[in-house]
Amino acid sequence: MKVPFLDLRTQYQGIKADVEPEVLKILENCCYIGGSYVNDFERSMESYLNAAHVAGCSNGTDALVLGLRACNVKPGDEVITTPFTFFATAEAICSVGAIPVFVDVRQEDYNIDPDKIEAAITEKTKAILPVHIFGAPCDMDTINAIAKKHGLKVIEDDAQAIGSEYKGRKAGTLGDVGCFSFYPTKNLGGAGDGGMVTTNSDDMYTILKAFKEHGAAKVGAEALELLEGIKETIDNNEEATELYNPYKYYNYLIGYNSRLDAIQAAVLSAKLKHLDEYNANRARIAAKYTAGLTPRIRRPEYSSDIKPCWHQFVVRSEYKEELCAFLTANEVGNGSFYPVPLHQQKAFNKDNCKNPGASLPVAEEISSQSVCLPIFPEMTDEQIDYVIETVNRFYEGK
Ligand SMILES: Cc1ncc(COP(=O)(O)O)c(C=O)c1O
Repeated sequence: MKVPFLDLRTQYQGIKADVEPEVLKILENCCYIGGSYVNDFERSMESYLNAAHVAGCSNGTDALVLGLRACNVKPGDEVITTPFTFFATAEAICSVGAIPVFVDVRQEDYNIDPDKIEAAITEKTKAILPVHIFGAPCDMDTINAIAKKHGLKVIEDDAQAIGSEYKGRKAGTLGDVGCFSFYPTKNLGGAGDGGMVTTNSDDMYTILKAFKEHGAAKVGAEALELLEGIKETIDNNEEATELYNPYKYYNYLIGYNSRLDAIQAAVLSAKLKHLDEYNANRARIAAKYTAGLTPRIRRPEYSSDIKPCWHQFVVRSEYKEELCAFLTANEVGNGSFYPVPLHQQKAFNKDNCKNPGASLPVAEEISSQSVCLPIFPEMTDEQIDYVIETVNRFYEGK
């Protein structure tokens, strides 16, 4: 039997009838940027997450950059984050000129260890950037309490965590801003790149809207006042309409071009209706893996405070390379996330990072052992059983 790591084709068949007419309408109407599809998606997402505001953007990396800027993170500021994540988390910190400070993770859930955060705080620290790795929310009460005590912002990296919950609240509503990716392989994936930032703060929403469109127009002037206390007046009193914004070419901040496209919004809206069902299927697969895999393989241990969205099912094996080769030879898709923890990535050095090459033993150990098994909503029981049987067969030979 062949078990792919992911099967986007089967998922597409389930939403094809909803997606294709909408995409064709967008192509016929030629309203590719902004407009009602993006607006409808953002509002639906606000109610799904129970968040006051959602701002779509171009991708998850931009979402982090926008989130950092909305928190007024500036060049030279330090931002505490995890080394066990995708590169973009720390890359975004560097993109705004700030300095990532890596703090080790926990053995049980691979998330940043809140007990180690305070020792890393200095007078330059501006924010904490926890990543809900593999869709399992971090210990947010402890992280938020530390942030409050030291006057820091909390920027959630929710790229892998859509639909996850912490104490009954959705990831993305747990810090000051939440940053999501709609990269096609995510639990809610677009037909290309996409992302969004969430916040419950009206002021941060104003700033996000300004930065994602070149710091222009009235919202740009409002954001400038919120960020720097500088009040600019706009002389032009014409009213903006959907097709004409008289202020578009008046810029108040150096921002970005980071918008969610209408076609992506249409695809994401169709999939959002199925997201809870997709995530429930992932949870069902995770439960079968947890029950069926040999106890010799180490699974993550999640607190009862959280409901993960199971973006990945990651086991730990001292025979990592051999196990991956065995799975591949037996046609079971597999992945190794993440083989190099960020503090050991060549891109980071003393000029752009606080502690490149530091000793962060838990992250290093997990990186050397982690093996991701296939977990996608359309997996059949036969496929799940075959994965379990293949892993267990590998261990019988050990
Ligand atoms: C943890 C994490 N952060 C950030 C990103 C960046 O998202 P994107 O690829 O949409 O830019 C990703 C996704 O790839 C991710 O997994």
